[in-house]
Amino acid sequence: MSERTDNVPARRHRRTAYERVVRPVLYRLGRGDAEIAHEQTLKAMRLIGRVPGAAQAGSRLFGASGGPARTVFGVRFPSPIGLAAGMDKNGIALRAWPAIGFGFVEVGTVTAHPQPGNEKPRLFRLVEHEAVINRMGFNNLGSEALAARLAAYGDLGYPLGISIGKSKITPLEDAVEDYVTSLRRLYRYGDYFAVNVSSPNTPGLRSLQDAGQLRELLAALHTEAAALTVAGLDPKPILVKIAPDLTTSAIDELLQVCTDEHVAGIIATNTTIDRAGVSHHPLATETGGLSGRPLGEIAAKTIAHIHNETGGALPIIGVGGIVEPSDATRLFDAGASLVQVYTGLIYRGPGLIRAINRSLP
Ligand code: FNR
Repeated sequence: MSERTDNVPARRHRRTAYERVVRPVLYRLGRGDAEIAHEQTLKAMRLIGRVPGAAQAGSRLFGASGGPARTVFGVRFPSPIGLAAGMDKNGIALRAWPAIGFGFVEVGTVTAHPQPGNEKPRLFRLVEHEAVINRMGFNNLGSEALAARLAAYGDLGYPLGISIGKSKITPLEDAVEDYVTSLRRLYRYGDYFAVNVSSPNTPGLRSLQDAGQLRELLAALHTEAAALTVAGLDPKPILVKIAPDLTTSAIDELLQVCTDEHVAGIIATNTTIDRAGVSHHPLATETGGLSGRPLGEIAAKTIAHIHNETGGALPIIGVGGIVEPSDATRLFDAGASLVQVYTGLIYRGPGLIRAINRSLP
């Protein structure tokens, strides 16, 4: 799809205190096991979230509050920069994310059954490329546990997206029930729902992007949502998160289904199984999804295609490869209404979110 050169070192930029001081410490934790650094970061964020007033003060400092608010699919976002799914799967640090400038958070992906995910190691840093390969496999405490946690939080003061997926033990032919169960448990707590049919780490999951299966899944989710609305809950937008590895014609078919089934928006994109741009890296052969800088161009192209194909009628949350403010601009220019960040946070730290907020018109 795109022309990319291999082994290009990360663009030169002035390194921040995070990159000079915090990142080396994080990288050494657990003798370089990337997952330990991730767990410690989450724990630190949870502690920050417990400090009274930290979120509000941080939000002012990092430029999310009083910033470029926008309303998309009927939801008001205090900043269009969100935390992507996978970072805070179980929602343990939800009080803290606004403190570093995020205007919304997508928790999950959660599944109907709690599950441990794949064997470790399952997270790999390709530092030279500001990229990560992961094959976590939806390690999560399950949608019931997430519902209990969200009930305990009460009002978070910002929009929460909830990403739902299929449990590994559930056969593909029973996938619909698995998603519906999680939607039912979590419906009252989410401001939008992301239907994850694009993770490369659950066998068969991405086949749910095929028109027939996707139509059945979305119809069932909307039927359930309608029943919950009749029972007194507010209607909630349902979005579909797609892979960057689909052919153009597969994307077009998917968009037709999404339009027919009244999907509220598309999240583009999930991680890629493609290794163009990193193929000479010793970790490139690790199985899993690649994220970070090498994904930026393909995410932008996918977003531009969706935007053109739908004439801008379907809102897009752009995600993939944002490691500096210009990457976010590229996704907005391609047609995204909101963007999300994950891997960029690992390499550039919280200052990245502030820098993006400040760069927005
Ligand atoms: C992810 N991502 C992800 N996406 C999703 O929909 N559900 C999930 O559970 C996860 N889990 C996950 C774990 C890890 C370790 C990573 C790095 C990524 C994908 C993520 O939300 C995003 O779509 C991609 O990572 C691309 O964005 P970045 O990382 O390039 O900003």
